[in-house]
Amino acid sequence: RFEAVVFDLDGVIADTAGVHEAAWRRLAAEIDAPLADDIGERLKGVDRRASLDIVLEQATRRFDEAERDALAARKNSYYRERIEQFGPQDLLPGAREAVASVRAAGLKTALASASRNAPLLLERLGIAELFDYVVDANGIRHSKPDPEIFLAAAAGLGVEPSACLGVEDAAAGIASIHAAGMCAVGIGSHEALGAAEAVLPDIAAFDLGAFATP
Ligand code: BG6
Ligand code: MG
Repeated sequence: RFEAVVFDLDGVIADTAGVHEAAWRRLAAEIDAPLADDIGERLKGVDRRASLDIVLEQATRRFDEAERDALAARKNSYYRERIEQFGPQDLLPGAREAVASVRAAGLKTALASASRNAPLLLERLGIAELFDYVVDANGIRHSKPDPEIFLAAAAGLGVEPSACLGVEDAAAGIASIHAAGMCAVGIGSHEALGAAEAVLPDIAAFDLGAFATP
């Protein structure tokens, strides 16, 4: 039986996957870096600097470290322009209900986000009080797919990782959950998230009762 559920934020709770992709596409267009049509899937769950490395894969010139820092900051400013406008209407449908249902069942909830913007988003979305513990990119050293963030969430809750269920929309996130010794629920396509124990089309389909037995 599970004792806690650890949720990812971007693409699971908050409707931000498209906002991240749009900000990267705006930056890429400005520096003439061609992007594949399916780049959005690869960018999910990947931290800011690793995402930049992916965006620069087809770039026509090299960028040194200082330039990369500036590019990552520029992308973040584009992202923040949109996030500053966020409100509860930018929660994904069923997200609040999914987290609330876990608490109503007597389990603990945590958030594990690779984003440094997670505190701002939680405040804008008005859902900070739904989580017993929050870990974001500001509090860890190794990004997904490393298990550190999910292990930190379990430790913060005081629950064994094996008694936690992780919910993620990114392949890197499913790998992080598994490396932490947790079961994974993927939110998205079977094609991208086939490694998860269960895959749901969206967070609205989340039903804790379906996972009663690990
Ligand atoms: C993850 C997103 O949650 O956070 C990624 O899925 C993003 O797309 C990463 O790159 C880092 O976010 P930020 O806000 O710190 O640039
Ligand atoms: Mg995500």
